[in-house]
Amino acid sequence: MWCWKKKSPLISEKSLPSVAEYILSEQCTKIVTMAGAGISTAAGIPDFRSPSSGLYAQLAALRLPYPEAVFDFDYFTQNPVPFFRICKEMYPKLKVKPTLTHYFIKLLDDKGLLLRHYTQNIDGLERKAGLCEDKLIQAHGTYETGHCLKCNKGYSLKWMETYVMSDTIPMCIACGALVKPDIILFGEGIPQRVVSKCRSDFRSCDLLLILGSSLTVEPIASFAGLVKKKCPRVLINRTPVQKRGFRFQNSDSRDIAWYGNSDEGCSTLALYLGWEKDLVKLMGNKK
Ligand code: OAD
Ligand code: ZN
Repeated sequence: MWCWKKKSPLISEKSLPSVAEYILSEQCTKIVTMAGAGISTAAGIPDFRSPSSGLYAQLAALRLPYPEAVFDFDYFTQNPVPFFRICKEMYPKLKVKPTLTHYFIKLLDDKGLLLRHYTQNIDGLERKAGLCEDKLIQAHGTYETGHCLKCNKGYSLKWMETYVMSDTIPMCIACGALVKPDIILFGEGIPQRVVSKCRSDFRSCDLLLILGSSLTVEPIASFAGLVKKKCPRVLINRTPVQKRGFRFQNSDSRDIAWYGNSDEGCSTLALYLGWEKDLVKLMGNKK
C-alpha cells in the first residue's frame, strides 16, 4: 500500500540556534548568500524602499515621472541628470567601512562554506570586506567602473567622480558620447553569464541565506525559487517580505524568517556557531 510519509524540514526549529546547528552539520557544505541594500544601511548607505529613509522616498526634488525612473536605462539616456545627482550623493558614501554582515559573509567563506555570494548592491562593500572575485556576483553591477555607451571605452570611478562631483555629465573623451557607470539599470538585463552561474549555484546549494532585501526586483528575487525542494531558506531582514513561494509562517516549511537588523541577526548566528571571536578578529584585521 502506498504510504505518504511527511518529510520533516532539515532545520528542526525555526530559530537561529537550529540554523546554526544545521550549518555545522555534515549536511550543509554549500551556502549561497543573497543580499540587498539592507546589509549596508548600518554603514550609512540608504536602502531603496524603506518608507522615508529609503532612496526612492527622497527623490521628490528630482521631479521624476516615478522614483524607479532614476535607474531606468531609457530614462537615463534621455535625461542622465537625476542619475548623476544620485551618484554625487553616493560617491562619498562608498568610502565607508563594511558592516558586520559583510564580514559574516566573508567568515562563511573563510570556514569553507560559502559557495557564492549574490549581491544586488552596487556599493562594493563585499569586496572591501575581503570577498574574492570568484565568490562574488554583483548582479546589479558596480559604481567602481564605467563605460562609454557608444564606443565602450572604459573609465575608472576616479575619472567619473571628477565630473560628477562638479555637476558635469561625464562624456567620452574618445567619441563624445555619454559615459555610464557599470550599474545594471532597469531595461538592460542581467548578463547571461550571471544567470547561468546562478542557476547552477542555487540548484546545488544546501542553504540559502537571504540578507536585507525586500525581494521585489526580478530576476534576482525569483532565483530563490531555484533551490532544491528541501533546501532551507533563511531570511534575515528588518521587515517581513511579500514574496510568492515563501512560506515563513508555515510551521513545517523549510522557510525561516528572523526579523531585525542584519548585523544583529548575523552576530547572534555567529555566537551560536561558536564563531564570535573569529568574527571580531576578521573585523579587527580590516580596520
Ligand atoms: P530594498 O530597499 O527594496 O529593500 C531593503 C530591505 O532591507 C527592506 O525590506 C528593509 O526593511 C530591509 N532593511 C533595511 N535596513 C536593514 C538592516 N539594517 N538589517 C536588515 N534589513 C534591513 O532594497 P533591495 O531589496 O536591495 O536596483 O532592492 C533591490 C533593487 O531595487 C536594488 O538593487 C536597486 C533597487 O531598484 C537597481 O539599482 C537596479
Ligand atoms: Zn566613446
